[in-house]
Amino acid sequence: MLYSLCLMSLDMMILLIFALEYKYQDRTRLRKGEKQMRKKSKCSMCKSKAFISLKYAGIRLCKEHFKTYFINRVAKTIKKYQMIKHNEKILIGVSGGKDSIAMLHALTEILKDTNELMAVHIDLGINEYSTKSREIFNQICSTIKIENKVISIKEKYGFTINEAVRKIRRPPCSICGLIKRRILNEYALEINADKIATGHTLDDEVTFLMLNYINGNINMLLKRKPHLPKIHEKLIARIKPLCEISDLETQIYCLINNLKYIEIPCPYAQDSPILKFKKIIMQLEEIRPGTKLSLLRNFTNKIYKALESHYSDKVDQKINECIKCGYPTSQDLCAFCRLKEKVLS
Ligand code: AMP
Ligand code: FES
Ligand code: ZN
Ligand code: ZN
Repeated sequence: MLYSLCLMSLDMMILLIFALEYKYQDRTRLRKGEKQMRKKSKCSMCKSKAFISLKYAGIRLCKEHFKTYFINRVAKTIKKYQMIKHNEKILIGVSGGKDSIAMLHALTEILKDTNELMAVHIDLGINEYSTKSREIFNQICSTIKIENKVISIKEKYGFTINEAVRKIRRPPCSICGLIKRRILNEYALEINADKIATGHTLDDEVTFLMLNYINGNINMLLKRKPHLPKIHEKLIARIKPLCEISDLETQIYCLINNLKYIEIPCPYAQDSPILKFKKIIMQLEEIRPGTKLSLLRNFTNKIYKALESHYSDKVDQKINECIKCGYPTSQDLCAFCRLKEKVLS
């Protein structure tokens, strides 16, 4: 039942995508377009009925070929950015959202014979949102039979995100992001993982780049790479295997593989400017398919290198170790220890 509902909403979504293709054409051209569309709506690989049109790639795919295409794209991204070597232990951060669920499924397919994989979910203590996310995580881990761990921030540090947000005057997502990054890193150190994989998508990366271009935040831009290698003994390397894949593609991957994901949004994310930016970026992609990929690739291949050679000796020069936890910081106490002190005071 649930599956057919998913498929129904997916079919509706695909119709919408097709409709958008003709949005700017007049009626005659539209009719011509419809005829062509009927002719063209075949999978570019096998000629059976196409299920999705990927304008940026100029292809249409049936369900089976979309699955293969998605897996191949993730595998290619891993190779291109030299994210994973054989036998490395990979810790996969899973929030329960469509992106990290799709990543977990795809990485299991790609790496099951060559790497040790471990899935981790952080229980943030955000009411129903956290309860449901944890259930979804447990369910997928038992379905795909992957070793896994749930870490509750309340049990580990004595406070939930709800409590931290009440005490600290900072955007909730930035408090939450800081805590999640620390927990993922601490757990990766504990289990001797070589890499931490997160489900940041192309849309996430491009949104982050746009926001930081606007703010001229070079320091943040220099910290953003699809593969951030280990630069300190306490900081585990981070990889983003979905960095060239859009939000819509991860959603479609979940739906056609019948993977459940959390559909209610985080209550703190609803007013976030990031969501508004994401919408604007989607409009840019509509006007010029391929914009998001160009932005990301040009940043990593050209702009990042230019910034690095020009600025890397000028920004964040002073690297100390936090007097409490030993993590790298530009001050005496790291941002995480300062936050913990404030919340628990
Ligand atoms: P977000 O910062 O919420 O956009 O999440 C980005 C990525 O961080 C996700 O795709 C996950 O890989 C990871 N992540 C976010 N929340 C959690 C969580 N509660 N537990 C484990 N990993 C998470
Ligand atoms: Fe962290 Fe919403 S998931 S604030
Ligand atoms: Zn096909
Ligand atoms: Zn510290």
